[in-house]
Amino acid sequence: MARLAVNVDHVATVRQARGIDEPDPVLAAGMAELAGAEGIICHLREDRRHIQDRDLELLRQTVKTKLNLEMAAVEEMIGIAIKAKPDLVTLVPEKREELTTEGGLDVLGHKARYSDVVRRLKDAGILVSFFVDPDPAQIEAAKECGGDIVEIHTGHYSEAKSEEEADKLFSLIGAAVNVAEKMELRISAGHGLNYVNVKRFGELHQIEEYSIGHSIVARAIYVGFEQAVREMVELVKNF
Ligand code: PXP
Repeated sequence: MARLAVNVDHVATVRQARGIDEPDPVLAAGMAELAGAEGIICHLREDRRHIQDRDLELLRQTVKTKLNLEMAAVEEMIGIAIKAKPDLVTLVPEKREELTTEGGLDVLGHKARYSDVVRRLKDAGILVSFFVDPDPAQIEAAKECGGDIVEIHTGHYSEAKSEEEADKLFSLIGAAVNVAEKMELRISAGHGLNYVNVKRFGELHQIEEYSIGHSIVARAIYVGFEQAVREMVELVKNF
């Protein structure tokens, strides 16, 4: 039985396209919770292209489930996180020119830096998740740096161009999940998951939570936000 955490960034993306005050990701977060989501995620990017500081402040005040702040491990964001105190921070790589997060974090290559960031966030009472590719070495590094959770990057699987490729990439995710379980890390997964490609994850019972945004906001255009969230909750709760 897995949980759904809804990423509300794209609600803010639509708002920012007009530069006005609607649609509001804070209202969407409340609706997602009413529809059964057990967590809300927002990514405060350095360029503020979608979520704004105001959104994070209001989400912190209003989210009743768990607030997960995705962010780059840079000083500005660390300061904001320590002040805002989300329940959880997910550390992600961030490049200004990317459309969305493109790959997992290189924890292995920067262990001293990430150990320090984890310590500072945990001292502030915040759980820390590392967004990593399904690579055992990165998962082990996340554990060594003191991470509580690994979020396995499912984006490459989601973008597979053939069934064979999807099978191959899914088996990497399965192997990564086994490594994370052995290391006693809590396990989440996300990126690029939709109402079809998520079904296969029913085989991986160790994954506790799915972080999903784009496909839910896309479906919401046709069926409404609450229904779009409810349909995804129904899918993952049976895993
Ligand atoms: N997990 C992480 C770390 C992400 O950066 C994103 C995208 O913001 C997601 C999950 C959700 O991905 P999607 O919007 O493709 O569902």
